[in-house]
Amino acid sequence: MGNTHTPAPAQSGVFSCQKLHIQRQYRYFQERLLIHITLLRMFQPKSYETLLGLAGFSDALLTNHFTLYQGYVTNTNKLHDIMGQMVDAEKAATPEYAELKRRFGWEFNGMRLHEYYFENLSKEKSNPNADLSVIQKITEQFGTFERWQTIFTATGAMRGIGWVILYQEPETGHIFTTWVNEHDGGHLAGCRPLLVMDVFEHAFMLDYGLKRADYITAFWNAIDWQIVNKRFAA
Ligand SMILES: [Fe+2]
Repeated sequence: MGNTHTPAPAQSGVFSCQKLHIQRQYRYFQERLLIHITLLRMFQPKSYETLLGLAGFSDALLTNHFTLYQGYVTNTNKLHDIMGQMVDAEKAATPEYAELKRRFGWEFNGMRLHEYYFENLSKEKSNPNADLSVIQKITEQFGTFERWQTIFTATGAMRGIGWVILYQEPETGHIFTTWVNEHDGGHLAGCRPLLVMDVFEHAFMLDYGLKRADYITAFWNAIDWQIVNKRFAA
């Protein structure tokens, strides 16, 4: 009588084997799903190769600049993923997580500001014509286009590395010329970037050495005013 249940250990072995198989399959699909979701979340670097041949910007300088930009995209994705993994591993309350969190804005803005910058440049000659809404706003607010141009240029000539951004404040519609230190210090919360100029040394030194003023002149000649006008909300 005591041997009635002798097959049980064998069945138990089959069940535990099946259970292990199902667990492995579940883990496999869970990992595939996670990879898929992560890929969907990732930022993709944009191509600005059409800018090659831009007057005042050598192809070598532009190519190096595109590579730097791609690095910001890579690091933005990387930080996003690492921080997600740290949260899952219950490491969100660590100093390491806090430092990555601080770093994220620097990388993200480095990515996005380069996109604004490359996208407001064009090989096609573009003029700040008076019939453009953004030019009318500049004139209305600064008196003359030239007066505002002096302010923007002087901001770009400031010592240090960063960006000059013409921002539009959405509540009042006012525009501001702003210095952003590195990629993350000095942004105006909620404002829309209309015109973005990179004044990190990598943006000009290869072509102009220390002559930042000459680079800024080349930048003025390369602005796509149609894009700047499109970003402006009249
Ligand atoms: Fe740059």
